[in-house]
Amino acid sequence: MIEYEGKAKQIIPTAEPDVAIQRFKDSATAFNGQKKAELEGKGEINAAMSAAAFLKLESAGISTHFMGLENARDMRIKRLKIVPLEVVVRNVVAGSLSKRLGLEEGVTLKFPIVETYFKRDDLGDPLVCDSHVFVLGICSEETLAELKTRALQVNSVLGPWFNEAGLTLVDFKLEFGFDESGELLLGDEVSPDTCRIWETESGRRLDKDVFRRDLGDPMVGYREVVDRLGITIGGE
Ligand code: C5P
Repeated sequence: MIEYEGKAKQIIPTAEPDVAIQRFKDSATAFNGQKKAELEGKGEINAAMSAAAFLKLESAGISTHFMGLENARDMRIKRLKIVPLEVVVRNVVAGSLSKRLGLEEGVTLKFPIVETYFKRDDLGDPLVCDSHVFVLGICSEETLAELKTRALQVNSVLGPWFNEAGLTLVDFKLEFGFDESGELLLGDEVSPDTCRIWETESGRRLDKDVFRRDLGDPMVGYREVVDRLGITIGGE
């Protein structure tokens, strides 16, 4: 039984009420679902990469919903009540930041910045400032501050991990939620679908922008990322 079907993942219940299976699909979408494709092997790569990233983060003291891989594309997760915000961290100018502020893509920012977007497909996930978050009652001031602190902590763990593999973590999106005991945990996924990852030496894109911008076979870059990070596909 599928309890929830998203664009790139499914949520499947288990016998334990607080545990679910997050299944990574091969489907890819961009521009709020307007562009679609099936990318063979994407689900397994994203599951493997997310598992490795969550383990890395857990060992640095950052709590996540990750409980283990069931198989190559199914991840056991703690159920969360998701805070409806996409928390984006940026190290280098790219994507919507470049468009919105007229900055040149590829310029390293003076310091990492954190942005919040309201998760609302019908509104196109708008960028929201703190006052918007509180007026809409999305979360408390304390939770918002904690989301931003944690997002920067994630950046300081993942950034060096990528750098050592010759990769630059340009930007990425995170989602957080509360588990049944009220603890705030990192949820969702960490993969080339949700991170911009460039080869440091050449600036070559190894992430979903290859799909968004029709720059070639996206799976070539996705595979290169997991290979460089030494991640094995298939839940081994
Ligand atoms: O498009 P934008 O430049 O705002 O994206 C910033 C980062 O957040 C990128 O790494 C992108 O892949 C990720 N993102 C995402 N899901 C969204 C929007 C952005 O994973 N809905």
